[in-house]
Amino acid sequence: MAGSGTRAAFLGVGHFAPEKVLTNFDLEKIVDTSDEWIVERTGVRERRIVTDEQAASDLAIPAAKKALEQAGTAPEEIDLVILGTVTPDYFFPSTACIVQDAIGAKNAAGFDMLAGCSAFIYSCNIASQFIENGRYGRVLVVGVETLTKLMDMTDRNTCVLFGDGAGAAVLGPAPGDAGILATHMKADGSLGYLLRMPGGGSRQPPTHESLDQRMHYIKMAGREVFKHAVRSMCESALYVLEAAGYKGEDVDLLVPHQANWRIMSAVADRLKIPHEKVFVNLDKYGNTSAASIPIALSEALEQGRVKSGDMVLNIAFGAGFTWAANLVRWI
Ligand code: ACO
Repeated sequence: MAGSGTRAAFLGVGHFAPEKVLTNFDLEKIVDTSDEWIVERTGVRERRIVTDEQAASDLAIPAAKKALEQAGTAPEEIDLVILGTVTPDYFFPSTACIVQDAIGAKNAAGFDMLAGCSAFIYSCNIASQFIENGRYGRVLVVGVETLTKLMDMTDRNTCVLFGDGAGAAVLGPAPGDAGILATHMKADGSLGYLLRMPGGGSRQPPTHESLDQRMHYIKMAGREVFKHAVRSMCESALYVLEAAGYKGEDVDLLVPHQANWRIMSAVADRLKIPHEKVFVNLDKYGNTSAASIPIALSEALEQGRVKSGDMVLNIAFGAGFTWAANLVRWI
């Protein structure tokens, strides 16, 4: 819905990626694939991967600290931490609480958001409600993934797509007419089976058998995901544009979930947004799921691709299925 009264703005954005790089050429030595196939079908050239010792919070904490610094916000000012991930450190305690403690956000509440690749936008949209209604002054939103820990390195359909990283944003009241103008979120659980990790939860707790059957890895029907992703991301984008009274032509920067260049370009074409206005860093990071949009936003800001007053359209699609968007007049 379009917001009313005080709007929420992105006061600061930061990101952090692990050092280790896995290129398509490295993958050629692991599975039956080629750099040519991966680049042509996805646009990914390399991705960052965590070491065995690194967990989600090890990426989320430095990203959160950078976002706080960018925003000029002290950790004690944060009222709420929402952290989007499908690869938390543990089922519980939440990774949001681990981050809350590590950064010294001692006055904050915290919870994890499970919405696949849409989790960062879901989290920002929820955060915006708390800002708009005046309940909270500063919300820290984090998107983080260590998806390579769930990758089946014998499955070429999935292991070439994903990477690890974290991005974070501090949301707070917007000055003037800046801020999040409109938000949209939707889900269709009937299609959840098309992208999932079948083992590890209460449906199938870990057993020797479930491990032998490789149930603790990402399973995906790529072509189906692709089809729904394009349609759903357009639905969310068109909703927020219309709710705020704008058209695709008015967008200065489209920041889509970085899943696949063919998905991103198909969405941009349908929205009539020229490709030079689409932010792309998928070639360096692969699909980092919940982290992809905040990493992209952070790099777009670093590169001067976003100026004050610009219209920025963030859209995502992910496991669930879930999809979401927000339209922002940049602060
Ligand atoms: N290297 C070489 N060949 C491969 C590879 C690979 N890594 N992977 C699959 N192939 C082969 C297939 O086996 C198939 O061969 P066949 O024709 O002999 O059967 C052929 O390539 C074509 O396979 P398709 O699946 O039809 O290829 P497609 O063009 O659809 O591309 C892809 C596959 C890249 C997975 C695409 O469908 C896609 O990007 N889907 C969306 C995935 C996505 O974004 N997922 C994440 C969303 S959200 C989240 O929450 C994580």
